[in-house]
Amino acid sequence: MSKKDIIILGIESSCDDTSAAILKNETILSNEIAGQKVHEAYGGVVPELASRAHQQNIIPVVDTAIKKAGISKSDIDAVAFTRGPGLLGSLIVGTSFAKAFSLAMDIPMIDVNHMKAHILAHFIDDESKDKPNFPFLCLTVSGGHTQLVVVNDYNDMEVVGTTRDDAAGEAFDKTAKLLGLPYPGGPLVDKYAQLGNPDAFSFTKPVVDGFDFSFSGLKSNVLQFLQKQVKQNPSFVEDNLCDICASIQATIIDILFDKLVPAAVHFNIREIAISGGVSANSELRTRLEKEAIKRGWKFHIPKFEYCTDNAAMIAIAGRFGYLSGEFADQGISAQARMAI
Ligand code: KG4
Ligand code: ZN
Repeated sequence: MSKKDIIILGIESSCDDTSAAILKNETILSNEIAGQKVHEAYGGVVPELASRAHQQNIIPVVDTAIKKAGISKSDIDAVAFTRGPGLLGSLIVGTSFAKAFSLAMDIPMIDVNHMKAHILAHFIDDESKDKPNFPFLCLTVSGGHTQLVVVNDYNDMEVVGTTRDDAAGEAFDKTAKLLGLPYPGGPLVDKYAQLGNPDAFSFTKPVVDGFDFSFSGLKSNVLQFLQKQVKQNPSFVEDNLCDICASIQATIIDILFDKLVPAAVHFNIREIAISGGVSANSELRTRLEKEAIKRGWKFHIPKFEYCTDNAAMIAIAGRFGYLSGEFADQGISAQARMAI
């Protein structure tokens, strides 16, 4: 290992995935993720159970990440952790672990904003794709957030549009729940939609000023639509599942692009990225590619493993903090709400 190499341990525990990653310069050596099956029975994440599962998972996950990276604990130069936003009890587990690790190994620690990290995942070395150039416009779509962000630099980001109610991931999950699909429904809607007709049914799209989004109307519209149809045909959902999923998914993606396209024009930015869990959606990825070709945009789609929550993105965000000397001290605490 060359002396100039910087090795960072990343820790992510903001929701229901416990993850640890080892980053060498801008290359990921390992990215371990332990999901939490315990929430499935409840149709959503139960915060108390999530923090308990993080406590059980964190040490084995870090241990495996170090082993898989083929390094030893003493090679690590710094530990980066998600400070927020997220579930407080879950964040506290990762934050406490990072503090203890930093103290025990006598290395600095870097606090990371989870939403910034989703965007900075685009800077992980990947020989199959170029890294974005500044400024670029990023649509960050996850289970908790929907944001349009002008990214001027690694640490200079401006949110220019956000959701007024549900996040795009919630729109997927809540409508999936109405169809009787288990949590999280987003990936299942994606799967069934691939076999369906997106024009089979039409759902309402909100009218919202500026670059903000709204998804709560869609949820109510789908609920009313299903209640009406099921009255006439009790097996309507089973008979039409793929078409319903394709139509809901197309509406969510239209709502996103109805703001992304004018924002790109307004800010005169022709380099567009997507990030966050919903950026794993196959139709969203295809649509971005099509729009980019049509409009002459350069576009950036994250690798699947860096879309949903992972510690690789925390480690790369930590690297930029490390390089600019922005370290946290032992007095730092986790923060459930945190602006970019
Ligand atoms: O970024 P993430 O892992 O966690 C948060 O920070 O919220 O995002 C999780 C969200 C969930 O709502 C999940 O249903 C959605 O991402 N998701 C998808 C897909 N994969 C994950 N939504 C639609 N299509 C997918 N393929
Ligand atoms: Zn996330």
